[in-house]
Amino acid sequence: MKNILKLNEISSLVNNVFKGNYELTSDCNDPVAIMVRSFNMHEYTPADSVLCVGRAGAGTNNIPVETYARKGIVVFNTPGANANAVKELVLLALLLASRKVYQGISWAKGLKDGEKTVAEQVEKGKKAFGGNEITGKTLGVYGLGAIGKLVAFAAQSLGMNVIGYDPYLPETAKSAFTGMTIVSDKQDLFNSSDYITLHVPLTPETKSLIDQAAISVMKDGVKIINCARGELVSDQAIVEALSSGKVSAYVTDFPNAEVVKSDGVICIPHLGASTEEAEDNCAVMAAEQTVDYIENGNIVNSVNFPKLKADKGAARAVVLFEGDCLGAIAKILVGVKATVTSGMKKNFGAVLIDTDAPLPEDIVSAINGVEGVIKIRSI
Ligand code: MLT
Repeated sequence: MKNILKLNEISSLVNNVFKGNYELTSDCNDPVAIMVRSFNMHEYTPADSVLCVGRAGAGTNNIPVETYARKGIVVFNTPGANANAVKELVLLALLLASRKVYQGISWAKGLKDGEKTVAEQVEKGKKAFGGNEITGKTLGVYGLGAIGKLVAFAAQSLGMNVIGYDPYLPETAKSAFTGMTIVSDKQDLFNSSDYITLHVPLTPETKSLIDQAAISVMKDGVKIINCARGELVSDQAIVEALSSGKVSAYVTDFPNAEVVKSDGVICIPHLGASTEEAEDNCAVMAAEQTVDYIENGNIVNSVNFPKLKADKGAARAVVLFEGDCLGAIAKILVGVKATVTSGMKKNFGAVLIDTDAPLPEDIVSAINGVEGVIKIRSI
């Protein structure tokens, strides 16, 4: 039995994936893999036995992915597995930003029959909670990955005009957004949208992408939805823009001490992926990718190593490396009957070496000795 360490509670459906060979536990010293949701791994030292981390969710900003790559730990996430749940929350957020339902509910819950009945007070008081409709308004979708794409189509079906921006969207993928405007300059999205919704990961490049300068070119009264990550929006800029009226509503799934104080901020306690369906989908997908890597060395949906999947030979070795190692590894394999599959992601690479019999020890140690090779594992 191999141990899988869980650092958060995780859907029990993973037991169907781990059954037989693995024990899922929250307490062990020698896990072969770790399953995690939002646990902060930046302050955590994984055991040397850990081969991979399965993050049941999309964002990996709670994991030091580059440091883990250097330790030879492959980090997987589950893109798309919770996209529908987040899309549905974004639709709710659009409506919450448009209709003062949330403010009206808390007012109505405080009413009591008195000189006037509750029903009379409701009819008299409701004028304070008027709003606007979303049909016919323009929604800027910043980021057109699994979630942004679903949001764009759903908003279009509700009668919104959609403008999309995604610097990583391949040219060939643009035609899928029929009836929408895909812009190549984010300023065009900022200055034409009545609503802006964010769907990008948090990286050094995207941190504070909504700052004072970005807000200054937006339409007066713009509404901003953030179900992606809190740090994409500058706290100071959004609080100032709400108090000046430049931004008329900010709905965030990532409240912090700064924004909770501000009127106009609608705070949701990170519920984007908190549906039974999304939790099951993410957990199962992360578990399947984890098992495929442990047992076959295949790498699917890793954030720190390249995608690598191939038919397995009778024996397989998996090599993880940093930098330019492929030439040196190929040289060592001259004369060895092997099928070699390799890939790179940024500066980290991986190689699958499929052979009829396990690689001889001298070949394994020669590959291990190549400068930049992090780990070689025989399966
Ligand atoms: C995600 O990154 O997938 C969502 O924010 C939900 C989560 O953190 O689990």
